Amino acid sequence: MHCKQTFPEGIADMARIQITGGVPLRGEVWISGAKNAVLPIMVASLLGEEPSRISNVPHLQDVTTTMELLGRMGAELSLDEKMQIEIDPRGIDRFEAPYDLVKTMRASILVLGPLVARFGRARVALPGGCAIGSRPVNLHLHGLQQLGANVAVRNGNIEASADRLRGARIVLDTVTVTGTENILMAATLAQGTSIIENAAQEPEVVDLANFLVSMGAKIEGAGTNTITVEGVDSLNGTDYSVLPDRIETGTYLIACAMTGGRLRCTRARPGHLDAVLDKLSEAGADISLGEDWIEMDMGGRRPRSVDITTAPYPAFPTDMQAQFTALNSIAEGTGVITETVFENRFMHVQELQRLGADIQVKGNTAIIRGVPRLTGAPIMATDLRASASLVLAGLVADGVTTVDRVYHIDRGYEVIEEKLSQIGARIRRISET
Ligand code: EPZ
Repeated sequence: MHCKQTFPEGIADMARIQITGGVPLRGEVWISGAKNAVLPIMVASLLGEEPSRISNVPHLQDVTTTMELLGRMGAELSLDEKMQIEIDPRGIDRFEAPYDLVKTMRASILVLGPLVARFGRARVALPGGCAIGSRPVNLHLHGLQQLGANVAVRNGNIEASADRLRGARIVLDTVTVTGTENILMAATLAQGTSIIENAAQEPEVVDLANFLVSMGAKIEGAGTNTITVEGVDSLNGTDYSVLPDRIETGTYLIACAMTGGRLRCTRARPGHLDAVLDKLSEAGADISLGEDWIEMDMGGRRPRSVDITTAPYPAFPTDMQAQFTALNSIAEGTGVITETVFENRFMHVQELQRLGADIQVKGNTAIIRGVPRLTGAPIMATDLRASASLVLAGLVADGVTTVDRVYHIDRGYEVIEEKLSQIGARIRRISET
């Protein structure tokens, strides 16, 4: 194992979170670095000829998994007390992502493009499906083939190789975040110019592009639907600070809206939450913004129901859908939520119904009639953002709610019970003995 230090194993597999509802959240919560930015950025460091240092890294299980993945390839990783990670790619001599890691974190697929671009070969276990959908990776593979890689799927592994990738114009049939990121990383070292059309515009894609540019890559248009990359022969190491997590920010703001409290999110990036802030204002929240903070005052009011349709950025994010389903469950009126990105992202609905929510799912639409009260019960997390929505529901439910399988939540929310406790929630983690 090459990591000098990994995160303490504080995450018991079958830990639970117990919440006693009814407290309006009040105070200030600091926002961590974005999970969906730090993962591709850590992987992108293997494109460099020198070590890179990444700061504002959130303390998440997926970060630990990514350190393990890079360590097994032969990279040297170290983590300091300020959670800054140094990744030295110079010792990399194995070019694969094994199934035991890929099955715990689909984002492992992100090593494919960089390994082929930098080392000419890669073997990455084909990610299986997951709770929210089949989640194919065909666009990742097709994009790499268009850049000149030989790609085959054998015995559950993606095997890819190339002498030198060649620039190409790639039109993505569907907007894919990690698909865009995989192709973008590969294109930085290709011979010639690449154009990625119908590219994902998420802020995390922009953060990755900024990281790559700081390594010496030549990228234009990140954050729009057309990204142009002029390939270079090599990239350097760099120092970079990861952007704040807009989904974590939105999750805490919804917790405040549901409990009728008053909350200030610091170290945030308000400009990345326009669609979410619009909906929170529609739900009746008073919101004020600063350079790096967002403040919400719900004034003890019950939120009003809102209608949501998820879509790629800058439209309303699918990663906030489950949280708004929870808000609508106790809001005044009826809210209609349509999920257009993933085919099975209503797993939280059955669990919310156990707390008394009145929700009907028809295809990819949920019709939610707000009820005045939910009542606490034991419930089970199924995927990362669904588990967050169950915690939010527990914050307002009468009595005690116990959320099982919180390893899902530890993948994406840094010390969630500490942050919620600091703003008044009655919440604690119970590890299975
Ligand atoms: C990223 O997943 C995020 N994960 C997800 O966050 C997020 O929900 C999703 O983007 C959408 O915003 C990371 O960034 C690590 P997609 P990704 O490829 O890239 C289809 C969380 O909660 N598709 O943008 O895997 C796919 O089936 C996680 O933090 C193909 O058809 O999602 C889906 O319908 C969950 N073929 C749509 O595109 C492909 O090759 C969008 O998926 C790739 C994707």
